[in-house]
Amino acid sequence: MIRARIEGTGSYVPQRVLTNQELEGIVDTSDDWITTRTGIRERRIADKDTTSGIATKAAKMALKDASVSPNEIDLIIVATVTPDMFFPSTACFVQSNLGIKKGVPAFDISAACSGFLYALDIADRYVRSGASKKVLVIGVDLFSRIIDWKDRNTCVLFGDGAGAVVLSAKKGKRGILSTHIHSDGDYWKILYAPSGISQKQSAKGSIEHPYLKMQGNETFKAAVRTMGKACMEALRYNGASAEDIALLIPHQANQRIIKAIQERLGLPEDKIYTNLERYGNTSAGSIPLALDEAVRNGRLRRNDLILFVAFGGGLTWASALVRW
Ligand code: COA
Repeated sequence: MIRARIEGTGSYVPQRVLTNQELEGIVDTSDDWITTRTGIRERRIADKDTTSGIATKAAKMALKDASVSPNEIDLIIVATVTPDMFFPSTACFVQSNLGIKKGVPAFDISAACSGFLYALDIADRYVRSGASKKVLVIGVDLFSRIIDWKDRNTCVLFGDGAGAVVLSAKKGKRGILSTHIHSDGDYWKILYAPSGISQKQSAKGSIEHPYLKMQGNETFKAAVRTMGKACMEALRYNGASAEDIALLIPHQANQRIIKAIQERLGLPEDKIYTNLERYGNTSAGSIPLALDEAVRNGRLRRNDLILFVAFGGGLTWASALVRW
């Protein structure tokens, strides 16, 4: 049986670190409030970086890690809601930046913080159908460009970052075992950004600033409910139980949300990977960034069962179960 196997991972975060202490000078907040309510201590902020720029850096690293050359890639999917431009897609910029061969399909998908798992779902289907052999999947967002830096309810939560994986069509038991993606548009108003592009506008630019808007409490409850459900769905579909999971890599939004999922599944703390204390919520970048770190920290072993789960604006939610 042909499966999509993750052959290489990569990630990139901008150099600039914004700490909770620095935020105390920007909005009426405190390091104590932010760490207690969210677990976040600092995040990265893009200065001159663009979405396609950091996506390209993460992708380069993933290609190197997979020992795959750009001209072997036959599909590029980028998950982002903060693209450089409305069009062309970020994926087309990445294709050009990396010199991936002409004619290869490249497109973006929009599912906010669930974006990477949506992209993985699509890539997996291309691979299993035989349409693609080597796929570059990137999750990337620059939320610093759509944050209202006067709104303490939201500006403390997010950061910028990118992660990428290279998938290869391989025979055998290892690879993506399942993906499930869901949405419920009736809840769009609890988390949204009205419009926007990631490149800064000129002072007289005609585009209204697309500040992210969020109902924190409603979002929190929906996150716990949908991610809990998504984990159970992935386990049931594969005839697995929580004890079979070697590592859960959840969307890095809030430590308390992650804790609630952990308790629902009855997983010990050391089976959950978190890095949100250093990066905050990087939206579509969150899961592949955490995955790349986990790989580099030696947290994944061959044949381990790895569960990914995400939640985001839309509402959207998703899971993927992978045999490493
Ligand atoms: N610093 C200090 N006080 C803050 C603050 C900040 N950065 N942000 C909000 N507050 C205040 C509010 O003004 C409010 O004050 P009030 O009660 O006087 O009106 C109070 O803190 C809010 O308290 P509460 O709603 O109980 O906070 P909370 O425990 O729900 O935590 C969030 C707020 C936003 C951290 C939490 O709801 C959350 O994480 N939600 C999910 C967000 C998310 O993950 N979004 C992305 C999903 S992909």
